[in-house]
Amino acid sequence: MSHHPSPDRPLATIPMLQQRVRDGERLVMTTAYDAVTARLADPVVDMLLVGDSVGNVCLGFDNTLPVSMAMMNHHLEAVARTKPRALLVADMPYLSYHLSLDDTLCNAGGFLQRGAAAVKVEGGEKRVETIRALVECEIPVMGHLGLTPQSVHAMGGFKVQGRGAEDAIRILEDAHRLQEAGCFALVLEGIPSELAARITRTLTIPTIGIGAGPDCSGQVLVLHDVLGLSQGHRPKFVRTYLDGFDLLQQALAHWAEDVRRGAFPSPAEAYALPAEARAAVSAWTPDPSTTSA
Ligand code: KIV
Repeated sequence: MSHHPSPDRPLATIPMLQQRVRDGERLVMTTAYDAVTARLADPVVDMLLVGDSVGNVCLGFDNTLPVSMAMMNHHLEAVARTKPRALLVADMPYLSYHLSLDDTLCNAGGFLQRGAAAVKVEGGEKRVETIRALVECEIPVMGHLGLTPQSVHAMGGFKVQGRGAEDAIRILEDAHRLQEAGCFALVLEGIPSELAARITRTLTIPTIGIGAGPDCSGQVLVLHDVLGLSQGHRPKFVRTYLDGFDLLQQALAHWAEDVRRGAFPSPAEAYALPAEARAAVSAWTPDPSTTSA
């Protein structure tokens, strides 16, 4: 039988998760954007990410760039209200950590005040100073290297990164820079498996892979991808475990059909009028002086 952490398990902490990786366990992270997805995922994962992928997965944007702090706070608050036991990580959206350190610390600190235990930022060498400042203010940081969706235009599209020797070494060195800057874990997205394996073997902090092969310390997938709720192109690294969209739509269509043929609601799904009130209601006739024409 597969391992499902019990719902009354202790609150996940960073040292606890790092120890579990040292003990040889693989970590599992998925996205949650609201109370429903948080309640679905929390009992079965180690980390919940309020990802800026909410932009393309739930809000209809083409990419994550239009996602704002206000949007992220709204979704984080919904997830945090469910009091998850998994480690709650919130994604810093585009421009929330690029303008000034003050701005970055306010935005990230606001996430912690809303219930996140850590924040995630994309990028390598350029982020070292920012990450140091966050860690200095007791804000745990998860890094994100490789295919970083907020750099979609700079990368010229959603493309696998680190295929050339120079690019691969840059990502490897960035991983070490981020560990040195104080990140407690790194997401490795869209890079060759061998590169992710080398990064994982040479770091002491956990790596969480997405399209980075099997040799990371853990894996993350977008919840809507795992459940088959997302529409359109899914990259090859996504494994879908349910035709969620079709199954849910079939259930809705079934209900709509029941409404149209008069099979919903049944007497058991409605409220009956007590006998006395029933007699009064049946005896009532419209009074022309109180009802308008
Ligand atoms: O926003 C997101 O969902 C992410 C994960 C896919 C790592 O950054």
